[in-house]
Amino acid sequence: MSGSLWSGRFEAAPDADVFAYGKSLPVDKRLLDDDITGSDAWARALGKAGVLSPTDVDAITRGLEDIRLAVRANAALIDRADDEDVHSFVERELIARIGETGKRLHTGRSRNEQVSLDFRLYLRRRVPEIQKTLAGLVAALAGQAESAGQAVMPSYTHLRRAQPVLVAHVWLSHAQVFRRDCERFEAARHEADLMPLGSGAIAGTAYDIDTVFLAERLGFTRVTANSIDTSGDRDFVAAFLFACAMTMVHLSRLAEDVILWTSEEFGFFELHDSVATGSSLMPQKKNPDPLELVRGKSGKVGGLLSGWLMTMKGLPLGYNKDLQEDKAIAFEAEDTVIGCARTTATVVRTLTLRPDVTRTAASGLLLATEVADYLVHKGMPFRTAHEVSGKIARDLYQGGRDYSSMTLDDWRRYSTEFDDTIFAAVTPEAAVAARLTPQSTGPSAVRAALGEINSWLQEEFTR
Ligand code: ARG
Repeated sequence: MSGSLWSGRFEAAPDADVFAYGKSLPVDKRLLDDDITGSDAWARALGKAGVLSPTDVDAITRGLEDIRLAVRANAALIDRADDEDVHSFVERELIARIGETGKRLHTGRSRNEQVSLDFRLYLRRRVPEIQKTLAGLVAALAGQAESAGQAVMPSYTHLRRAQPVLVAHVWLSHAQVFRRDCERFEAARHEADLMPLGSGAIAGTAYDIDTVFLAERLGFTRVTANSIDTSGDRDFVAAFLFACAMTMVHLSRLAEDVILWTSEEFGFFELHDSVATGSSLMPQKKNPDPLELVRGKSGKVGGLLSGWLMTMKGLPLGYNKDLQEDKAIAFEAEDTVIGCARTTATVVRTLTLRPDVTRTAASGLLLATEVADYLVHKGMPFRTAHEVSGKIARDLYQGGRDYSSMTLDDWRRYSTEFDDTIFAAVTPEAAVAARLTPQSTGPSAVRAALGEINSWLQEEFTR
């Protein structure tokens, strides 16, 4: 076992099992780059404060860079290390490389603020990657919207056919959701954007550290306000987990939609063979396993968020070791979101629309609103028109028929306001074309929405 950073206080060596139990290196080695970046800045701040000589700063920063490159070239260096955590690993490696000078790096600093810094740096650099992955999914959704053209399908409320909409409108509705998630991740990133160094273990540091210099050097826009709060604050982790959990809820809902729409019952889209799975017993089966896994994993990420909230809720002020659990939780949430978003994007990208099926499904009694609107345009009050249209729908439903079976005489038995323009008014295309507002499924609104999404994507992929 490598020596710990705190052995001076103790007479007995740590129990091997208990030490292994408390180790976080296998998890927090993911923060290596951030730990080195933070330590480099800290060394420079100590130099500015006159605590380290320029030669010491130089030796330390070179040594740190050496470690970064060494691990990059050979991951086993950290994978096989036996240190308590990533901070201990870096410090031990530094001392091994540059000797006594390395022992000066931790002056005035605590691992409590160090881990806060590392994790903030990590989330700040990882959020853009997650956003890019989500943008990839938005691109797949926008691609489906584009290729659907003017195809129509039913929209649903209460999972009952509601009104005809453009297939493109449906895909763009899911796209909007993931754009919102990108913004939520931006908010989480903003919450992580506070530079904690200078807080010390809890009371602040006794050295003249220029925190503004540190914030600028490390790319933060703000410095934390209170050392006690900083020591035990992991709200930014909760914000990140919330963004992950919300995104998983959305991925799950999209997965559920696609599972339904590709089922024999709906048959609106065909799953590509390359993303479907078969059954060991039933030769005809084509299962949407990847989407079911996405739906299944969403529960876990919600659990990670609520688990983390439970971990935080009973803690006394300041750092407590319980907080070490945050990394395993957040990394798992991050990996799950990225994996699920990528898989979902592939499934969506490779779907094939069956426009005849969706048009037929959009052509039945769900045109009843159009019938009512038709009568309103003829001057009838909406409530009365609703009544008339409802009566027609009821009769058709009972007779197992739809509007296409009605003659003009049939129509006029319900109201003399009907004339032969009614036939063109009760088609899914007319229903869609009648929608006028910018959020609507009206073809020009959808074209504008698609254009807007595409320019957002352009920005996301070039920033
Ligand atoms: N591995 C620890 C964590 O992740 C680093 C901070 C340790 N601080 C301490 N006082 N033991 O929370």
